[in-house]
Amino acid sequence: MKKIAVFTSGGDSPGMNACIRAAVRTGIYKGLDVFGIYRGYEGMIEGDIKRLHSHSVSNIIQRGGTVLKSARSMEFKTPEGRKKAFENLSAHGIEGLVAIGGDGTFTGAKVFYEEFGIPTVGCPGTIDNDIYGTDYTIGFDTAVNTALEAIDKIRDTAAAHDRIFFIEVMGRDAGFIAVESGIGGGAEFVMVPETQTDLDAVVKSLKKLRKTKTSSIIVVAEGDDLGSADVIMKLVKEKIQDPSKEFKVTTLGHIQRGGNPTARDRVLGSRCGMAAVEGLLSGKTNCMAGIMNEQVVYTPFADCIGLPKPLNPDHLALIDILSI
Ligand code: F6P
Repeated sequence: MKKIAVFTSGGDSPGMNACIRAAVRTGIYKGLDVFGIYRGYEGMIEGDIKRLHSHSVSNIIQRGGTVLKSARSMEFKTPEGRKKAFENLSAHGIEGLVAIGGDGTFTGAKVFYEEFGIPTVGCPGTIDNDIYGTDYTIGFDTAVNTALEAIDKIRDTAAAHDRIFFIEVMGRDAGFIAVESGIGGGAEFVMVPETQTDLDAVVKSLKKLRKTKTSSIIVVAEGDDLGSADVIMKLVKEKIQDPSKEFKVTTLGHIQRGGNPTARDRVLGSRCGMAAVEGLLSGKTNCMAGIMNEQVVYTPFADCIGLPKPLNPDHLALIDILSI
């Protein structure tokens, strides 16, 4: 293998730049020509591919977002789109790919590998932490810390006004960001898609808590089965029937995707980027390089996207016990 390309796809996440830098520099260190594909699969289809050098990735490790830009490509879902992408890669002589992204990215990479056979190793880049085969995904730690900072600030004003705040965090269908930011932020409740939310139990506890606490923080994962934080707030308000109580909703949104990556995300991104290139050179393909128990692990894409990654039940129990 002489030429490889790296790209980022799907929702960006802090630490993707560290991962790009590591893949580029590891490739160059090993004697490869390294290319960057811009805007993920979109750029692959349009031929937006440029040679990268060691200095091309200088001064990016500390930056959020992705210097290669990202996109969610509809055209790559079609056989015609993938054929165009293959022709562009072939024109550049690219023989290996490093795909940085989440489940959508790996779903595309798997189909593409099965159709055209270009060796591909992925790196888990998503704030959601919903990828099997790695303890944490690149960007998760930064997103949790961003959410936590916001929760701390909201708690100040919640306490000042004796209000009940519902704070919606991202995570798509997973509750990892909600659980970790909820524990760190001392939330009274955390609502996640992985467990069925018992609204009556929440209302009962809130009424009980009112005797000891004047304000409360409820963290709601965006994918919760009962709906958005706004919907849940209205349901709770209706059941509590206490006009003296004020209910507020804050949706944190895309601030969770930006910002300078934490040290953990920079190290994780760097390790995965290097492992992806080393994996390609040792013949690995159709798999993701993740870190489990501090060790590099290569997991088939099929498992990364197909196997569930459960929340830690101890973390859920912790919230219940510490919120009394
Ligand atoms: O997958 C990352 C993520 O930020 C999810 O948490 C969220 O549901 C989604 O992407 C938002 O996507 P978009 O930026 O395309 O609106």
